[in-house]
Amino acid sequence: PDPETLATDRQHENDSAEPSGAAGQTLTNRQGHPVHDNQNVRTVGSRGPTTLENYHFLEKITHFDRERIPERVVHARGAGAHGYFEAYGKAGEEPVSKYTRAKLFQEPGKRTPVFVRFSTVIHGGHSPETLRDPRGFAVKFYTEDGNWDLVGNNLKVFFIRDPLKFPDMVHAFKPDPVTNIQDMERFFDFVCNSPEAMHMITFLFSPWGIPANYRQMQGSGVNTYKWVNQDGTGVLVKYHWEPRQGIKNLTQDEADRIQGKDFNHATLDLYRAIERGDYPEWELCVQIMSDGEHPELDFDPLDPTKLWPEDQFPFLPVGRMVLDRNVTDYHAETEQVAFGTGVLVDGLDFSDDKLLQGRTFSYSDTQRYRVGSNYLQVPINAPKTRVATNQRGGQMAYRVDLAPGQNPHVNYEPSLMGGLQEAPRTAPEHEPQVEGKLTRQPLERQNNFGQAGERYRMFEEWERDELIKNLVSNLKGCRPAIQERMISLLTQCDVDYGRRVAEGLSGTEAPGPGQSEKQEDAVEQAERDGQGAQP
Ligand code: HEM
Repeated sequence: PDPETLATDRQHENDSAEPSGAAGQTLTNRQGHPVHDNQNVRTVGSRGPTTLENYHFLEKITHFDRERIPERVVHARGAGAHGYFEAYGKAGEEPVSKYTRAKLFQEPGKRTPVFVRFSTVIHGGHSPETLRDPRGFAVKFYTEDGNWDLVGNNLKVFFIRDPLKFPDMVHAFKPDPVTNIQDMERFFDFVCNSPEAMHMITFLFSPWGIPANYRQMQGSGVNTYKWVNQDGTGVLVKYHWEPRQGIKNLTQDEADRIQGKDFNHATLDLYRAIERGDYPEWELCVQIMSDGEHPELDFDPLDPTKLWPEDQFPFLPVGRMVLDRNVTDYHAETEQVAFGTGVLVDGLDFSDDKLLQGRTFSYSDTQRYRVGSNYLQVPINAPKTRVATNQRGGQMAYRVDLAPGQNPHVNYEPSLMGGLQEAPRTAPEHEPQVEGKLTRQPLERQNNFGQAGERYRMFEEWERDELIKNLVSNLKGCRPAIQERMISLLTQCDVDYGRRVAEGLSGTEAPGPGQSEKQEDAVEQAERDGQGAQP
């Protein structure tokens, strides 16, 4: 099949026969019956009652009753667009084949169709796009070897490093189960007990926590993945999308002003840019590290709360992505699209990053529930390559994945009766050696505060001011114990950072009894603990 075939066009592949009696723009029902009256239900006389054999009405209303599917448990609000990825054939100065055999990267100028969904994380499907929140940046590459999903965020690090903590984190960040309102005391209650979150918090409460729109923000794979070359040798890799439009973030005041007038501004900005032919573009860069533990680093390469220093691990450009087509239908494409970190092609692999492995289970699990067990047959999710499986049945199966000439009686493998066969291997598999005690233990090199402090010092003056202001305004409604613990953690990132937040809080209205004294104690305690100290 033509790889350029539009996902949505495939829906109409079998639509060529005109329903009997209906032509052109004639309205029909889903049985192909022309609809002669779409204004009046069938009734006994003009005043009713209605009758139960109203097939057209019952079909219309029962379908309407089922129009919504469960929204994503996180990243519910999103905007999608189609486009393409174009490879450079190189990773910086080196031929890309040195690191990966993935076909989409090899030939300079080679194009692979993509679908991208940008999103906000915490609130529901119609929530404002001005909220302080990470932004999702998920890309589906329809490659010749099947699909590859790169499911990233705009910020380059994450709150936690163990997937077991994810449901608690999301509960704390989402609206309170009683009031249905997000409560920053619950938010910081979780955060102040998770020292690994300080780096992410430092980004999130700075202007970087509110990107101005989707076109002027970065993307990042966050987790550490692997690239595998023709010899089966793996390297560790991190992915970064850099916007050609530049990066633009908002202060809280700017965001408030936009939100007062328009809570859909980011979706609208993307849609309009594409409609007027001003196609947004990102360069894909990778950072590469040899596979291994790297004891010389003060962080673990598998820790998603850390950046890899650019001076040691430079950004190597490998291609660019252009978004040049809006969706035809929000639900069919943007809502039903299903991305997952397990969706890789030959030449790309997982690392042992625990968060990544937890994610990989979670995505397809939630999609079987959210979209249905045959979610991969939905056109936006189906690869543009041939699919031939022995999977059958399930709700809404509307195609059998038969190969040409396959015996339809044989839905199993192995067989001598004309069934599907395993693909021959064309290159050695990457086979890392793993050994160790089965255990429950955190990573040894946690260094929870070092990079957060560096980031604080690297920010421009106005970004630092915003960060302090935003933290203070959100922490001031929290009980003293939470404030104190936050001040202690921030002080361990940078003494000035903690002190400024403490000062901001002690100046707040009606502090609780003895509160500012306690804050000073916390600062002193943290100073004794030493900046950048291990927890
Ligand atoms: C969406 C789980 C961490 C980026 C989702 C969804 C789940 C999930 C269940 C909803 C998927 C759907 O309904 O289709 C998790 C778990 C995590 C984790 C268990 C950690 C253990 C992350 C991280 C990133 C990320 C670190 C960024 C690199 C996204 C994005 C989406 C998403 C972009 C929305 C995808 C879309 O547009 O459809 N996540 N997530 N998640 N997650 Fe995560």
